[in-house]
Amino acid sequence: MPNNLLVEGPEEGVLVLTLNRPDALNALNTEMLGNLSTALDNAEADPKVRSVVIAGSRKAFAAGADINEMAARNLVGIFEDPRIAHWERIGRFTKPIIAAVNGFALGGGCELAMHADILIAGENARFGQPEINLGIMPGAGGTQRLVRKVGESLAMQMALTGESIDAKRALQAGLVSEVCQPELTVEKAIGIARTVARKAPIAVRLTKESVRKANDMNLAEGLRFERHAFTVLAGTADRQEGLDAFREKRKPQFKGQ
Ligand code: COA
Repeated sequence: MPNNLLVEGPEEGVLVLTLNRPDALNALNTEMLGNLSTALDNAEADPKVRSVVIAGSRKAFAAGADINEMAARNLVGIFEDPRIAHWERIGRFTKPIIAAVNGFALGGGCELAMHADILIAGENARFGQPEINLGIMPGAGGTQRLVRKVGESLAMQMALTGESIDAKRALQAGLVSEVCQPELTVEKAIGIARTVARKAPIAVRLTKESVRKANDMNLAEGLRFERHAFTVLAGTADRQEGLDAFREKRKPQFKGQ
């Protein structure tokens, strides 16, 4: 097991991935992102994994891309950066990801948190895109996902000033869905992940895909996608089971069929 990424589970359908480079505040280097990418490959193929929690430490979710690694790369090195493929892998993961964010989520750390489908923050969380302070800019979705999540004005302010926002502001802005005490963040995220893990897997997958389409499509196209996904579910055994269970006043037994 790679020690810069702790892999626990799946337990009750939930896989917990914990970033573990405490000496560098979980700065995302190629190796760690590669391990994350591999863990998600395995999770994608494992039907026992229904949802994934990504967490960091109490002090830092992740303090950005690894600056030392970045400093060693010239234009061609950045152009051919192997981390690009890892980011793409995280972005196309089909099962729900819940980020449990305590402490710093800066640069690539904020971008990684924004790859999650649900963000839970500890009261001590700080979100920011400080790349501008280094004479660079976000490169893993920071200018794109942040706008979609918090709106243009705040995204612009964060990306242009490099100043971070606290958890309360992140909640107001819609970047995170809940704020809790830092010692409860991971527990809270796991609780949500377990709830999701109990739902019908195909319905979960299509719901995630459909919600995501809202960012990529106009309303008419998005509604059409939703209608098609809704129709596809009519062919699943889990839909029948869900409807039967409700009418028989029992808990459904979903099988991913
Ligand atoms: N890449 C590589 N190493 C990093 C890092 C990063 N993004 N962020 C922090 N570290 C390292 C520091 O170099 C330091 O290592 P050292 O002990 O060997 O000197 C260690 O993590 C602890 O960081 P430190 O700066 O001493 O902690 P702090 O509590 O004083 O400050 C931050 C915390 C997050 C404010 C500060 O580390 C920081 O600004 N980091 C860079 C954030 C950033 O610009 N991210 C975007 C990168 S593109």
